[in-house]
Formats: sequence, C-alpha cells, structure tokens
Amino acid sequence: KVAEDQLVIDAGQRHFGAVACTTCGMVYAAANMEDEAQHVQYHQRLLEGIRYVGWKKERVITEFWDGKIIMVSPDDPKYALKKAEEVRELVDSELGFQQVSLRCPSQTRTYMFVSNEKKIVGCLIAEPIREAYRVLAEPPSLHSLHGEPLERHRAWRCSTEPEPAICGISRIWVFALMRRKAIASRMVDAVRSSFMYGSVLTTEEIAFSDPTPDGKLFASTYCKV
Ligand code: ACO
Ligand code: ZN
Repeated sequence: KVAEDQLVIDAGQRHFGAVACTTCGMVYAAANMEDEAQHVQYHQRLLEGIRYVGWKKERVITEFWDGKIIMVSPDDPKYALKKAEEVRELVDSELGFQQVSLRCPSQTRTYMFVSNEKKIVGCLIAEPIREAYRVLAEPPSLHSLHGEPLERHRAWRCSTEPEPAICGISRIWVFALMRRKAIASRMVDAVRSSFMYGSVLTTEEIAFSDPTPDGKLFASTYCKV
C-alpha cells in the first residue's frame, strides 16, 4: 500500500500532472493508468476515424493550399457514405450527442475538410430547412461578468417568430489541434456556395442548430462578416 502511494507521487512529479497528446490533442494525467488507457483508446479511434484513403470519385468543392473540402451526398457510393457516417459518429461523441438521428437522411450532405496529410480535420453536416429562429443580442450590460464573456456561460434568447431559411447546419466540428485556422469558416463558405445550385446563400439563409458555446462564438463572428 505504501509502495503504491509512493509510486503515484513520484510519477506525478515526473510528469507534473496533465499532459496533452500532440497527435490527438487529448489532455490526460500521464501518471494515471486509467487515464492512459482511456487515452490510448481515444487516440486509436480518432486516428482511424479521421483517416482518409482517397476515393476514385470524390466531389471536391474547394481546394486550398492546406487541404480541400469534399462533399458526400446521400446517393454517393457506399464507401463514401460509410466514411461520412463514421466521422459523424466521432463528431457526435465529441459533441456529447447520443443517438441523435438525422432529420432527413435522404437530403443530408456531409462536408469534410481533408488536410494534405490525408486526415479529415473538419466536418459539417447540412440539411434543408424552411425556417429558423434568430438569436437575439443580449443587452450590452450583460456581455461580460468579472471580465469574462457571458456567452460562454449562459443560455441565449431566440426570437419567437420563425424566419425563412434554406440550410441548417446541424453539426460543425474541427479537430482540436487545427482550430482557429479558418477551417470552419471555409466549410461554411463551401456550403453557402454549393448547397443550392446556381446561387450563393446569404448568412441569413443558413442557421446553426442548437450551438455549443464554441459554436455560438464561431457562428456570431462568421455571420457578421
Ligand atoms: N472562441 C472565440 N471565438 C471563436 C472560437 C472560440 N472557441 N471559435 C471561432 N471563433 C471566432 C473567431 O473570431 C475566429 O476568427 P479568429 O481565429 O481569426 O479569431 C472565427 O470565429 C472563425 O473561426 P474558425 O477558425 O473558422 O473556426 P474553427 O475552425 O476554429 O472551428 C468550431 C470552430 C467548429 C466551433 C470549433 O471550435 C469546434 O470544432 N469546436 C468543438 C465542437 C463544437 O462545439 N462545434 C459546434 C457545435 S454547434 C453545431 O454543430 C451547430
Ligand atoms: Zn493521443
């Protein structure tokens, strides 16, 4: 018993508590066996999930110096749909969604940002909608509390009157180590230019469903531009 305690203390000092894996981004206590085991499991699942082998027929929406955006639609080959589903499951587990089914699978499109290293580092799921509720701005006095933006903490208010909209973004996700490189912005741009044939959707015509705090911060910045 004493020897075991000692081991934990020593290990704790060596690793100084939490470490972040530079490949998968998970933060865990390296001295803790359970945590390490959880990390190995997460690490493998993530790497397998985001691995992209390349397809004969892929629909490239936009190409960039650091990657490309491809889109999978419901009538695509099985292998493409299978990959889109695998990535969606990964995203759902990161977002804490449990068995949230797609509203309309036959019209759902999956946009994926593929890096030059052949990893799917971004995913966006879009579906047609008819209406959405606008997020209302908080009174200015409520914008910060003890210097911290309130957006991170509290629920926000929505208008009670629906407004017409065309495209609903039900999920948007970027790999943790690749955030703040405009990957999400470029995926939304790609949706706006390709969702409806022959026209570019305005930011009013797209809507984000039930955003997380990150999602809300992103969406409010994106929709202002
Ligand atoms: N905090 C504050 N501002 C932010 C944040 C944030 N976490 N994320 C984006 N922004 C703002 C910034 O102004 C940013 O520009 P800047 O980096 O020049 O300052 C601007 O939005 C554009 O951001 P992008 O780089 O395009 O966004 P990113 O690629 O980092 O992806 C996303 C944003 C998808 C929200 C990412 O943080 C993520 O995957 N988070 C975890 C999953 C999640 O919560 N997804 C949203 C769920 S809601 C839904 O799916 C409908
Ligand atoms: Zn890892």
